[in-house]
Amino acid sequence: MISFATVGTGWITESFIQAALESKQMQLAAIYSRSIEKAQALADTYNAPHYFTNIEEMAQSTGIDVVYIASPNALHFQQVLPFLKNNKHVICEKPIFSTFAEWEEAHRVAEENGVYLFEAIRNIHTPNFQILKDKLSLAGTLRSAMLSYIQYSSRYDKFLNGETPNVFSAEFSGGALVDLGVYPLYIAVGLFGAPKKVTYHPVLLRSGIDGSGTLVLEYDGFVCTILCSKIAHSSQQSEIHGENGTFVLSEAAPISDVTFIDSHTKKAQVLSLEQAVKDMVYECVTFARIIETGNNREYETLKNWSRTVLTITEEARRQNGIVFGAEK
Ligand SMILES: NC(=O)c1ccc[n+]([C@@H]2O[C@H](COP(=O)([O-])OP(=O)(O)OC[C@H]3O[C@@H](n4cnc5c(N)ncnc54)[C@H](OP(=O)(O)O)[C@@H]3O)[C@@H](O)[C@H]2O)c1
Repeated sequence: MISFATVGTGWITESFIQAALESKQMQLAAIYSRSIEKAQALADTYNAPHYFTNIEEMAQSTGIDVVYIASPNALHFQQVLPFLKNNKHVICEKPIFSTFAEWEEAHRVAEENGVYLFEAIRNIHTPNFQILKDKLSLAGTLRSAMLSYIQYSSRYDKFLNGETPNVFSAEFSGGALVDLGVYPLYIAVGLFGAPKKVTYHPVLLRSGIDGSGTLVLEYDGFVCTILCSKIAHSSQQSEIHGENGTFVLSEAAPISDVTFIDSHTKKAQVLSLEQAVKDMVYECVTFARIIETGNNREYETLKNWSRTVLTITEEARRQNGIVFGAEK
C-alpha cells in the first residue's frame, strides 16, 4: 500500500483523496494546509494520522511515499522540490509548471533522487482514452480534428467584479489554455504526437492572460484545432476526422463517450465503456502501478507527453506576450 499526503485544500484535493482511497492502492498519511484549522479538518474527515502547516517539515517526515500537490499553478515548482529532494514521489496537478525551465529542473531533481514526478491529468488515464488510442486507425488517414474544453468559470464573475482569482492571474500562471486547453491538448499529443507547428490565437483579459483561445496544431496532412475558454459556455462535441471515419467525443474531459461514424455507411458505433464517476481513480491506479513496479517505459511516455504539452503552451504564450510571474 502506498502512503500519500496532500498539499492544498480545494475541492480537487478531496476528489483526489476519495479516488485514491477508492483505488485501494493508496492510504492517506498526511495533509498540508497553510491553515492549521483546515489541515486538521481535512485530516479528521479522511482519518489522516498527521497534518502539517510547514511544507519542509512534511517533506522531511517519514511514512509518506508520494505527495499530491493541488495548489495554484505558480506555486507548483517551489512546493514540488522539497518532496523530490526528500526522496518522495510527486503527483502534481495540471498544468504541472509555469515554464519549461521549471519542468527540466524538477525532472532533473526527481531523477537525481530516484523518484517519479507525475502530472495529474485525468482524461488520458481513462479506459475510454485507451479505447480511442487503440481504435484510432479505424479512421484511416487523419485530416482534421476539433477538440474543445469550453466552460464558463464561476470565478469569471469575480474577475468581472474587479477581483483577480488565481486562475485568471498571470502572477499565478492562470489562463484558459493552461487550465482547460491542456485536456484536449493532452489528447492531441497522446494520439498524434508532437505537432510540426503551433499557432495560438487568444482572447486576452485585463490581467494579461487568455480568457479563451484557439490553438492550431499542424501535422503532416492533418490539422488539429483546440478551442478552450473559461469565459463562455458551449455544448460543442469534440471530433477527429479521418478519410474512413470520424470519432465523436461529447467531452474532452472526462472522456465519457466515444462514437465512431463510418464515412461511407454513416453507421455509428459506440466504442466507449461506462467509466467510474470518480474518474481520478484511473490516474491513481496508473501512478500506483508505476511506483510499485518501477515501469520506466510507461513513466517515460507520460513524461514525454508532459514535456510536449508544456513546450506547446509555452510557445503559445510566447507568440502572444502572455508572461507569467515566474518569468519576470
Ligand atoms: N484535475 C482537475 O480536474 C482539477 C480541477 C481543479 C483544479 N485543478 C488544479 O488544481 C490546482 C489547484 O486549483 P484550485 O482551483 O483548487 O486552486 P486554488 O483554489 O486557488 O488553491 C488551491 C489551494 O491552494 C492553497 N492556496 C491558495 N492560494 C494560495 C497562496 N496564495 N499561497 C499558498 N497556497 C495557496 C489553498 O490551500 P490552503 O489554504 O489549505 O493552504 C487552496 O485551497 C491547480 O493547479 C488546478 O489547475 C485540477
